[in-house]
Amino acid sequence: GKLTINTDKQGSAMGDLFGIFFEDLNHAADGGLYAELVQNRSFDFDPIDHPDYHALMAWEKVERGGGECNIRIECESPLNKKGNYAVIDIRTAGDGVGLMNQGFNTGIPVKEGNSYIFSVYARRDSSFDIPVNITLEGIDGSVYAETAIVVTSNEWTKYEACLSASATNYSGRLVLTTKGSGLFCLDMVSLFPSQTFLNRPNGLRKDIATLLADLKPKFMRFPGGCLIHDGSLNADDRDSMYRWKNTIGAVAERPARRNNWRYNQTLGLGYYEYFLFCEDIGAKPIPVLPAGYDPHHKRSVPLNELQPWIDDALDLIEFANGEASSPWGALRVQLGHPEPFNMEYIGIGNEEVGEPFFERYAYFHRAIKAKYPDIQIINSSGPFASGEEYERGWRSARENRSDFVDEHYYQSPEWMLAHHRRYDSFKAEDPKVFIGEYASWGNTYYNALAEAAYMTGFERNAHAVGLACYAPLLCNVDYVNWKPDLIWFNNHNVFGTANYYVQKLFMHHQGNYVLPVQAEGFGQQALSVNKPISGRLAVGTEGGIVEYSRIQLIDHVTGETKEFGDGKILLSDTAEDRENGQARTIEELASIESEHYTLSITAKQITWGRGIMVHFGK
Ligand code: AHR
Repeated sequence: GKLTINTDKQGSAMGDLFGIFFEDLNHAADGGLYAELVQNRSFDFDPIDHPDYHALMAWEKVERGGGECNIRIECESPLNKKGNYAVIDIRTAGDGVGLMNQGFNTGIPVKEGNSYIFSVYARRDSSFDIPVNITLEGIDGSVYAETAIVVTSNEWTKYEACLSASATNYSGRLVLTTKGSGLFCLDMVSLFPSQTFLNRPNGLRKDIATLLADLKPKFMRFPGGCLIHDGSLNADDRDSMYRWKNTIGAVAERPARRNNWRYNQTLGLGYYEYFLFCEDIGAKPIPVLPAGYDPHHKRSVPLNELQPWIDDALDLIEFANGEASSPWGALRVQLGHPEPFNMEYIGIGNEEVGEPFFERYAYFHRAIKAKYPDIQIINSSGPFASGEEYERGWRSARENRSDFVDEHYYQSPEWMLAHHRRYDSFKAEDPKVFIGEYASWGNTYYNALAEAAYMTGFERNAHAVGLACYAPLLCNVDYVNWKPDLIWFNNHNVFGTANYYVQKLFMHHQGNYVLPVQAEGFGQQALSVNKPISGRLAVGTEGGIVEYSRIQLIDHVTGETKEFGDGKILLSDTAEDRENGQARTIEELASIESEHYTLSITAKQITWGRGIMVHFGK
């Protein structure tokens, strides 16, 4: 084949085309990217998060060598407004009594030579100091690391200690035991590997974060997905919608919440950490905020109470970009980041459809553009990228002059191959498309290849497609809410799928401008017919034999598919045939009547052939 590339700089700029989308589903944050190793560190698991949950979830009582104690959860004199803490009421110390945490997955991964930072808030309810032994142990009680603290105060006090592992065990336990007497209370029991990504405190798991950084994404959309718009309208409720102001500041104070994916979300990985991570990996931050409307339960904030929600958006921009003299900019400085985070984009809503959303979007849009005209705003168009609701999203985007429309879809690989021309007809003067979520259903090489083919349609149409990110990004193998996913991990391993390497390829080789390319003589070509057709579809050869495993006709508009499997087209092999290059054998497949078909032929083998001929007509 021959490729002709016009190297004069012309065509559309590709900008920030390829990025990533982080959502805490599949335990992507807690038990995943967020490096905390203790599960249920502040005893706040609650059946509202998950029907199996209780406050001592992931914890077990320890009573050794005749020791006895009573463990209970109290909330009368709490460390913080989160309430719950554990009380260890020592009856007989024996060889030690206390609590053990089993971590996430199969346990706490303990690795020889690595060290771990333990911390806890504790207070005693007696006049004696209480020594507490801290160990990392295997299920059989073998000790891999050991340290100790002494609880010396009747006030909540933070204690810290370091543990160094002498051997490896990926099913470890964190064990806290005392041989003292009396009663003591614990909250925020935490264990982090001392090495996190770039060694940030309250940091990220190094291996997972490194795999993300290796992609070199241009942007990161966060913190969700359905995660952001599901929940109560009251920011103080346990099942509140995701409100960013709850996620910053002292980690111990951040209220845990019921995650849309039905597990406890600590918010230890919060907005400050997201912004920092984006900066660390050179990705522009794209936060997505709820618009005061929960499409799952059809709850909406009355319009006359919408201002605090709009303020959340305005304050977030100030937090990210504002001067130290502004209230929210000052908070960023106080948290340790004097420089702005240079936020350029904001998403309002995720997959919302319905009038209550579009009515509210307009208020957000006007307020943001009035104060921050340069911030690019992303509107929503629902979860299907077709149909009436989708059209409604586009209407809202055009009316409001949104910078982007967020399209989401999960489709078969065949759909992607057939629809790779989807954006060819999108207009440059319209809002740009943000493909905020897309994937083909699977993590096979075939899926990855279909996605790669489809992504060439984003590049080719950079006049219309401005941003695109595969979804979902991360999955903990032991807590699967959704698959396929780009990256899979357990408590000590992580690997990228074939789809990951496709994303990486595109991100590493993203161009600056689209150049016109002509391709000639390549074996496989997709044929898009953009004019009305009626009559018979027939397929033939221009010589030789074509064995095909599938011929597929997909209607661009309705998605209707016609499929023909396993056929063979034979041409009589005479000198005359070869000379005049005519198709002699035609296989008639179907009668069709439509306007926008894409035809794809999967050939198993072409023997002595110059190609495949397709006929539409009588
Ligand atoms: O990516 C998984 C989910 O799919 C997202 O949370 C949601 O936006 C979509 O429906």
